[in-house]
Amino acid sequence: MSLVRESERRLADASYTSAFHYKSANHYVIEFPENVRGLTIVELCSGASNIVKSLSDQGANAYGVDVLYKQPFKRVERTVQESLDSFHRKANKARKSIQGVDLANVSDFAVAINPDLLNAKVNDSSYDRASQQAAEEFLKDFLKNRSRYVGNLASNLSFLEDDSVDFMFSIQGVSKFLASDLDVLNGVVNEALRVLKRNKELHLYPWRGRQEAFWNSSSLQNLIAFERSLDQASTEHKNELTSGEGNRLIVIKP
Ligand SMILES: C[S@@+](CC[C@H](N)C(=O)[O-])C[C@H]1O[C@@H](n2cnc3c(N)ncnc32)[C@H](O)[C@@H]1O
Repeated sequence: MSLVRESERRLADASYTSAFHYKSANHYVIEFPENVRGLTIVELCSGASNIVKSLSDQGANAYGVDVLYKQPFKRVERTVQESLDSFHRKANKARKSIQGVDLANVSDFAVAINPDLLNAKVNDSSYDRASQQAAEEFLKDFLKNRSRYVGNLASNLSFLEDDSVDFMFSIQGVSKFLASDLDVLNGVVNEALRVLKRNKELHLYPWRGRQEAFWNSSSLQNLIAFERSLDQASTEHKNELTSGEGNRLIVIKP
């Protein structure tokens, strides 16, 4: 295994999973193509999100790629439930500290999973409920439509041909975990660009911008260096504010 792959494997092993709901993703963070019917769509680091299922229900040929899916179903189920339980405990704690208007105590983690916390919608646990629902839908779909869920590192999309994908995205995955190693980040994006069709887009959320507190300083430096390398290679890209808090990076396949 190459050194870059080993580093990616370590980062993946140190990560945790979560369950972004399709409705939040669609509303706040990713601009999906208007009509996905017949499109091949890939979500990287898709975890327990129900997005692949929702896109498939709309007629897309959708795949999720995540190391989690290498595990047998019972292990996936347990990992997902443990992660959600821990998330909800932390979010509840953050909400309580916000109620005392002690914003300094709200972890960047809690804000990142629910930017509404910044707007002091303190009693709103709708994120937790949506997340639980997304995870339940994911688990059912994972059992029923196993071929949609590919248990690989994000840098290995060998199940896909060059120039075959219409749209790709990652939420709280590529930018969150893999950005701490610039070579890993480059490897993953290069593989994504290999499989995308020309002029088609890769959306990465969150990206540097409004949610700067989300990253440690070395990851932030890597995100800046990464954007600079796209400039140097004249690869078209946009760093956009989403309709929620935070930014997304869009990279367009040349
Ligand atoms: C925080 S979760 C995000 C899940 C989902 N996208 C969401 O927003 O709810 C991060 C996911 O990335 C996966 N992951 C981390 N590094 C990875 C890598 N290099 N290749 C594939 N999956 C990876 C983890 O297994 C985990 O499920």
